Amino acid sequence: MAEINLMNRYPRSKRPIDERAKLITEAHRQVARQFGPEFFDGDRLHGYGGYSYHPRFWQETVKLFRDHYGLADDASVLDVGCGKGFMLHDFKELMPNLQVAGLDISEYAIANAMEDVKPFVQVGNAKALPYPDDSFDLVISINTVHNLPLEECKQSLREIERVSRRHAFLIVDAWHDDTEKLRMHQWNLTALTYMHVDNWIRLFDEVGYQGDYYWFIAE
Ligand SMILES: C[S@@+](CC[C@H](N)C(=O)[O-])C[C@H]1O[C@@H](n2cnc3c(N)ncnc32)[C@H](O)[C@@H]1O
Repeated sequence: MAEINLMNRYPRSKRPIDERAKLITEAHRQVARQFGPEFFDGDRLHGYGGYSYHPRFWQETVKLFRDHYGLADDASVLDVGCGKGFMLHDFKELMPNLQVAGLDISEYAIANAMEDVKPFVQVGNAKALPYPDDSFDLVISINTVHNLPLEECKQSLREIERVSRRHAFLIVDAWHDDTEKLRMHQWNLTALTYMHVDNWIRLFDEVGYQGDYYWFIAE
């Protein structure tokens, strides 16, 4: 289990935190938490403000995952919270023999997944992964498990541990200090379980999560 930044090739965007903080209401959050069309492709106050494929998002990062975890050409990778399958698509472009699987709670995202990965993705909840124990060489979950309430979030961590036979890597909303905490509260739309990095590490330990992790910091 290690804290490791495997997202340092992912493009950084300047987030309009102050602007969003003035505008978002509980009503926006409720819409966003449905993870429907408004969250992905609606306006910015409900989520992404347009969730479209671009190779610059994941192409370099999947190379890093491959190299860091020493993935064999025919290894198996699960993406929990795969959205429209952008990362899995880039994995398949890089490693055509890779066995990929993706799961997302959003019927909209799965219905609009990229054509080449559609056969491998399904609607489901991270708290109950529909795969046998030790199914995957690598389980990745980016900005997803913090969207569950605490007990379900714990369950999703146990599930990731259960279906992974070797490696896992997570990104979750977190902070190191009060400034980052305030920024996170201002920025957050959908997360229900988010905390200081030390508390996440304690939680990982409590549930027996042994994979790697890094943080999404609102900055
Ligand atoms: C911030 S998006 C991240 C999407 C993708 N991992 C990425 O980094 O581009 C969060 C994703 O988690 C999904 N999600 C939220 N709650 C979930 C749950 N309980 N089980 C599975 N997926 C969930 C959402 O539908 C959404 O696709």
